[in-house]
Amino acid sequence: MSSEEAQRTDPTDFSEEVRAFYERHPYPAPVTDLNRYRERWANAERRRSAFHLLWPAERYRDDLEVLVAGCGTSQVAKHAMRQPAARVTGIDVSESSLRHTRELQRKYGIDNLDLHQLPLERIETLGRRFDKIVCTGVLHHLPDPDAGLRALRAVLAPGGAMHLMVYAAYGRSGVYMLQAYCRLLGVRALDNELDDLGATLDQLPHRHPLAHLLHQAKDFRSAAALADALLHPRDRAYTVPQLYAWLERCGLSFGRWFLQAPYLAQCGMVARTPHAGRLASLAAPQQHAALELFRGTMVKHEFIAYRDDRSGEAQPIRFDGDRWLDYVPVRMPATMSVRERLPVGAVAVLLNSAHTHTDIFLPIDAVEERLFGAIDGTHCINEILRVASDNPDDPDNRDGARRFFERLWRYDQIVFDATR
Ligand SMILES: C[S@@+](CC[C@H](N)C(=O)[O-])C[C@H]1O[C@@H](n2cnc3c(N)ncnc32)[C@H](O)[C@@H]1O
Repeated sequence: MSSEEAQRTDPTDFSEEVRAFYERHPYPAPVTDLNRYRERWANAERRRSAFHLLWPAERYRDDLEVLVAGCGTSQVAKHAMRQPAARVTGIDVSESSLRHTRELQRKYGIDNLDLHQLPLERIETLGRRFDKIVCTGVLHHLPDPDAGLRALRAVLAPGGAMHLMVYAAYGRSGVYMLQAYCRLLGVRALDNELDDLGATLDQLPHRHPLAHLLHQAKDFRSAAALADALLHPRDRAYTVPQLYAWLERCGLSFGRWFLQAPYLAQCGMVARTPHAGRLASLAAPQQHAALELFRGTMVKHEFIAYRDDRSGEAQPIRFDGDRWLDYVPVRMPATMSVRERLPVGAVAVLLNSAHTHTDIFLPIDAVEERLFGAIDGTHCINEILRVASDNPDDPDNRDGARRFFERLWRYDQIVFDATR
């Protein structure tokens, strides 16, 4: 029996309501041009940084088995395109989303991609194991997110990694208010109704809890995004403690945030508050929970998780001892250096444009700039110090460098290849 037949003949058919929604409103809005995407990912450092974000303690390889679960209209085509040596599988319940993906596959001759119309709850029927599972924006729509996550966990290879994204509770309070508003009015996801809804949102009070999202998310005003956010038949959101508990229930352990700075006591304005020391002394889960409460506007949690029975530590990045000297820093995508409106003593400010919190930026001085400029994705910190520091064996210089590379890592400027 094919996976399509298995889906049609299942009496429980638990995904039907959500499937029907995405048949009518494929999300994200389909794209037809992946040329820029392909160019960006031709950069080997970008591919290495994506790998070591998930596996800092493993040697780079590109022959991975990858699953994109709930792949939507283009996500899995992008993953297959950027990793030609990987074998990539995309599944989705929405045939119209898969059709858009097939068009991209044909257009760009992507031949390392298999597509299946299949609910992720039944992924085991493919009889495969995956090194990397990407599931973003999907699990929070399932009737039973635990069952969905457990199904993915069951096909994750022992040393594999999951890249997950689910909605965050507090920052979405405005979304839930507008969802309730739309229910009161009986607004439906029809073209003319979405136009009216968009025009109504233009007049939303500036201090409405939804306002930060309207300004932050570039595509929020598109019909597809409005339908997905405000008229979805089902979604739920997680606080940080709920997220940690969810992973534990489903046999997974938390690895790291995709972008970690917003969750850390050492980054941004919170680091200058009287509570900074107390926050920093909390264990990681409590610190992350406190930062979610402090920031108040996080709308999603994007993170890496591993099997809880994995052997060896998955994210062994430490700055005590001497191991940090052997780490090879690899720049993260979306980082940039700015030279305008600099704070006193700074020669540049480092940003990651994927951050949405405007207080997360890192001023650097002239010494730090030289170290930063010597990062090439192949030399370890010790080697960088030898070429870019005047006196690399001076304990003060070494200590300054240690603190600087730790800051770069915390601020999502770099990941580490810690395999040496
Ligand atoms: C918000 S879209 C996200 C698409 C894609 N992951 C991305 O980030 O661009 C959610 C997708 O999940 C799919 N989906 C929903 N329930 C599913 C299920 N049970 N199994 C597989 N796919 C599902 C929908 O059809 C839709 O394409």
